[in-house]
Amino acid sequence: MAETLRVGIAGLGTVGASVVRLLGDKTDHLSKRSGRDVAVTAVCARDRGRDRGVSLDGLSWHDDPVALAESDGIDLFVELMGGEGDPAAAAVSTALRRGRPVVTANKALLAARGTELARLAEENGTTIGFEAAVAGGIPIVKTMREAMAGNRVERVYGILNGTCNYILTRMEEEGLSFADCLAEAQRLGYAEADPTFDIEGHDSAHKLALLSSLAFGVTTDFDSIHLEGIASITTEDLKAAAELGYRIKLLGVARRTDTGIEQRVTPTMMPRNLALANVDGVLNAVAVDGDEVGEITMVGPGAGGSATASAVVADIVDIARGRCLPVFGIPAAELEPYRRARMRKHAGGYYIRLSVYDRPGAFAAIAQRMAEEQISLESIVQKEAKGAKGAQSARRVVLITHDTMEAQIRKALQAIEDDGQIAERPHVIRIEKP
Ligand SMILES: NC(=O)c1ccc[n+]([C@@H]2O[C@H](COP(=O)([O-])OP(=O)(O)OC[C@H]3O[C@@H](n4cnc5c(N)ncnc54)[C@H](OP(=O)(O)O)[C@@H]3O)[C@@H](O)[C@H]2O)c1
Repeated sequence: MAETLRVGIAGLGTVGASVVRLLGDKTDHLSKRSGRDVAVTAVCARDRGRDRGVSLDGLSWHDDPVALAESDGIDLFVELMGGEGDPAAAAVSTALRRGRPVVTANKALLAARGTELARLAEENGTTIGFEAAVAGGIPIVKTMREAMAGNRVERVYGILNGTCNYILTRMEEEGLSFADCLAEAQRLGYAEADPTFDIEGHDSAHKLALLSSLAFGVTTDFDSIHLEGIASITTEDLKAAAELGYRIKLLGVARRTDTGIEQRVTPTMMPRNLALANVDGVLNAVAVDGDEVGEITMVGPGAGGSATASAVVADIVDIARGRCLPVFGIPAAELEPYRRARMRKHAGGYYIRLSVYDRPGAFAAIAQRMAEEQISLESIVQKEAKGAKGAQSARRVVLITHDTMEAQIRKALQAIEDDGQIAERPHVIRIEKP
């Protein structure tokens, strides 16, 4: 049997402690899978005195992750601290410069510097495993990087944040407001004390940036992702969507278009018959359209110590076996520069919620503006008028359009606003179809 693979782990929080536990509990199982023994030999965290629920006896302790990354006592560096800057970035770069493989769950780091780090890995004859960085326990990276190698991918899309999915599911099931569901998610530990990062879509966008590189062979470009969070979604939207046969999810979508790669994280309506539309609660899901295989969908836990450790350990076993694949499936030097699609050219259906003044001619004027932009409507739902009787009471109107260019929708809605027929800004949700 080959020599033991000595693993150094920086970060002993939710994920790091679970990885130490898993590697310790399953030594025989993993040595058969790896063709050699795999053992944690060194660790690093900030607080040496903290009880982490796992034994660290006999392991060498480092206060500095960079020192661990370059220590001679390890063969593989596992980064589980998080954060797109130092010390994670410095420690990962240090390990790679030494030709040492890295496994990380750090989507923020890779979304910001994935291409640069992949290049560094490959220049030094090594690799980065990042299965755990995208959708936690779902093995989507390996699926896209290896199992779908024979496909040209046209689209990858997914529910990439469990907190948002939990909130939207509860709002729909219980008719509770966004604020109430967020408070509940925080109480249950599904949402951070500061949930901005999740609910504004940044966390999903980090994962989407990595999925795009895997799917389309392009450089990672987090900054080009069009972002809209879920705070504007109301129970009324969820109800109207349900009445029309749709559900609303926070979706990350990346697709090839004629003008480049479109990447967006937005609340999105999906027909109920789409597999992703039925993924509820804290689960994550990713769907990939390959030209040969068709669409595949994977569903599973996107977070949590054990689920994420499962993905980290899969990468460790690959490296123990000596597999050293290009980080994003094709060599970093051959990744195409990311070319951003023009959002205004986005074509698809739209859900539009309007608050239309309850007065003669208002609706006809709106229909006229839509017609001027050649927007055809799939359905129109009018709700009862709200507010005091008289000129200023307003009626909720929900429109679903057939496929239309985003530029046309924006133009029509601007004209409708300018006409003064609506009481508040229109609320628009894109529709994703099979
Ligand atoms: N939690 C999940 O379910 C999940 C899922 C998928 C991916 N991830 C990713 O996995 C990574 C770790 O997440 P986590 O939830 O395990 O985080 P966490 O519980 O906050 O743990 C972070 C660990 O890093 C250590 N650390 C932080 N800064 C450090 C520094 N400057 N020097 C040394 N050690 C430092 C902390 O040390 P102390 O303990 O001493 O403070 C702690 O042990 C992140 O990149 C995250 O995005 C997490």
